Amino acid sequence: MILAFDTSCDDTSAACFVDNNRYSNIVSSQNDIHAKYGGIMPEMAARRHIEVIGYLTKEALERVSASISDVDYVAATVGPGLLPSLLIGVSFAKGLAYANKKPIIPINHIEGHLFAPFFDKKLTFPFVALIVSGGHTHLFAVRDVGSYELVGKTLDDAVGEAFDKVARILNVGYPGGPVIDRLSKSGNPDRFNIPMGLDKKKSLDFSFSGTKTFVKNLVNNHPNLSKTDICDIAASFQKASVDILWKKTKRACNLYGINKIAVSGGVSANSYLRESFTKNAKKDGIEIFLPSKEMTTDNALMIAFIASLKIDTATFDYGLIEANPRLKFY
Ligand code: KG4
Ligand code: ZN
Repeated sequence: MILAFDTSCDDTSAACFVDNNRYSNIVSSQNDIHAKYGGIMPEMAARRHIEVIGYLTKEALERVSASISDVDYVAATVGPGLLPSLLIGVSFAKGLAYANKKPIIPINHIEGHLFAPFFDKKLTFPFVALIVSGGHTHLFAVRDVGSYELVGKTLDDAVGEAFDKVARILNVGYPGGPVIDRLSKSGNPDRFNIPMGLDKKKSLDFSFSGTKTFVKNLVNNHPNLSKTDICDIAASFQKASVDILWKKTKRACNLYGINKIAVSGGVSANSYLRESFTKNAKKDGIEIFLPSKEMTTDNALMIAFIASLKIDTATFDYGLIEANPRLKFY
């Protein structure tokens, strides 16, 4: 049994994992705190992590009818993320592991996202991984656990960041991704031709910073946007971003001779992305792996799952486990 924690950013999460029939995954959202600022306040996030992490741990254990003595390993996200937030989860996990004489497995948050699509499916290699979150838009050729070749990435904003910024420009709420997703359902995705940078023949890199300038100009030039206009802008932006993600992911498959794609990170919750990737993959004879909805955004179950694939890195040398906001894994 692995007891895992994720406090990389604004949500607090604790999970217990034995196998995909016996697990728990408790997430406490902080949207109520940060919504009024339109972005995450790191010190406030850390303070809320401290308040709730003990309760979440208790609940994660209770949901699988276990107590701390049943736990074999403790796992925690050590980076990347916000330092004040990471420090809470890492310190809590270390304290708990030390007091109960359990080995600890340090986990990279992004590596957690990367394997989340395989939680309830058979894991085979190689596959192309597209990681789309608030901080990442990365394409990897994955050949094994620990063997990640970075083949493309955003040169400026991450796609989740672009969703959040466009939502802020349209003044429709926070966090932006889910709001844009919802508004797009009643919008016309073909009304505005929103340009996507770096659409060059061989490039596997992305650029999303021009998008927000385009939307900003659109809004500035039309101060009295109707509800319909806003939905049309949201839908057009969503389609343009997701279509370029598909184009480059498929290009990566062709260039590297791989016919499997795993998409992960918060933006993989997007309904248009899930539909269009599934449809396009079927048409092109590519196998697609998407995480369950609860495994798309930040959660500790994905941390427990990757920990189960890296049991050999467990250590009693607690001094080695440190938060690192800029931790890399490739
Ligand atoms: O992976 P995640 O929970 O946190 C990071 O590690 O960044 O991703 C958060 C990002 C945010 O930018 C959020 O707006 C986006 O994922 N997101 C979505 C949706 N749900 C969350 N973007 C588009 N559509 C969604 N349904
Ligand atoms: Zn994340």
